[in-house]
Amino acid sequence: MPVTRRGFLSAPAALTATLLPTGLLAALNAQIPAPPDLSNWEAVRAQFALDPAYLHFASFFIASHPAPVAAAIDGYRRLIDRNPFLVVEQGLFETAEQNLPLQVQTEIADYLGARAQEVCLTGNTTTGLALVYQGLPLQPGDEVLCTTHDHYSHHESIRLATERAGASMRKIPLFDDAATATTDALIAAMLKGIGPKTRVLGLTWVHSSSGIRLPIREMAAALRARSGPPVLLVVDGVHGLGSTDETVATMGCDYFCAGTHKWMFAPRGTGLVWASADNWARLRPSIPSFSDEDQYVAWERQSAPASPNNANRMSPGGFHAYEHQWATAAAFRMHRQMGRARVAARIRSLNEQCKAGLAAIPKLRLHTPMSSDLSAGLVSFEVDGIRPPELVKRLLARNVIASTSPYAISYARLAPSLVNSPEEVERAVRAVREISM
Ligand SMILES: Cc1ncc(COP(=O)(O)O)c(C=O)c1O
Repeated sequence: MPVTRRGFLSAPAALTATLLPTGLLAALNAQIPAPPDLSNWEAVRAQFALDPAYLHFASFFIASHPAPVAAAIDGYRRLIDRNPFLVVEQGLFETAEQNLPLQVQTEIADYLGARAQEVCLTGNTTTGLALVYQGLPLQPGDEVLCTTHDHYSHHESIRLATERAGASMRKIPLFDDAATATTDALIAAMLKGIGPKTRVLGLTWVHSSSGIRLPIREMAAALRARSGPPVLLVVDGVHGLGSTDETVATMGCDYFCAGTHKWMFAPRGTGLVWASADNWARLRPSIPSFSDEDQYVAWERQSAPASPNNANRMSPGGFHAYEHQWATAAAFRMHRQMGRARVAARIRSLNEQCKAGLAAIPKLRLHTPMSSDLSAGLVSFEVDGIRPPELVKRLLARNVIASTSPYAISYARLAPSLVNSPEEVERAVRAVREISM
């Protein structure tokens, strides 16, 4: 439930009511610009102010704000700068119709196939993972299982939470070589890894090390079908959201954490966690929320909230960069306009082209599966005799922006995305080929 009680954490009700000019909500809503033409990929690319001197193959790292998102941020910023109190007060604490975080949650829910009240707004993937793992009712002796392939933010969220609870964490490999992994082998490795104390399993949808995309839907189904105590599934979904045609809320995970400032092109410093109402009720919040009325009223009455925990109560409170949080809706609208299936098909075709081109280079070893069913927008590779940072440096010297994966074993990465064309992919592959000769 969003906060709709007048004056929550701010001005007394009567003062707020008399101060509010009519038309402020209309002014706020007017900041969402009319949709641009996104009917072809050149038009989509034109929404980004990316430096044309470079080929941008590391866009998944952090988004360049496309024009509709930049316009929404600017609009909200102008309004907040003119009237910080009135705009933030009304945008957060007035009626449900005026509540801007709720509008963002509604837009996100539509994309995820979820309900607005199941969506928790966070600042990034890392915060979402930490909130979930810290919130789980782990007991001494419980085990959180994850994989050797997960990101630093995921591993550390588990380590910090299990240490505090007196629980343990264990990491298992799901494959030796991502490039040759199969759905059956991934499922078998996952099931084999689950032990008698395992209560929670952490998986990563699209790995930023090897580029493999785990078949989460199939793995979640196998997890549910096994006998034994139930295991909650937490997914770091950041590189699948916005690159893959999936309905996240039906994929089978219990907690889905993602930043929206990568593939979704939402403002930098935005993210989400999705869970069902039952799964939110299992968690304990660790940061006071500014968006759950029951929590605030209970505090006024000097008691604990009587209602079950929920997504809003998990959303970190304190004031935020609201022009960024609110403009998240513009990014999700842009994705809806482009079409989830159409976006995924474009990313798939650019990545297939990239992988085919790289695979034909003699001294190059691909770490990402060739199958588009087990990959998404990241292509990881090594070239014999050239260390990944050196390779990335040499690509940059040819104005190709690539990246290295931030893991103990690091690879070079190209990430063809909506800001690239087939011709750019061809040029990037050619640059790798020339460097490798
Ligand atoms: C798999 C994975 N998880 C989490 C993160 C951290 O994301 P954020 O910056 O949204 O916290 C990254 C960073 O790129 C990542 O690759």
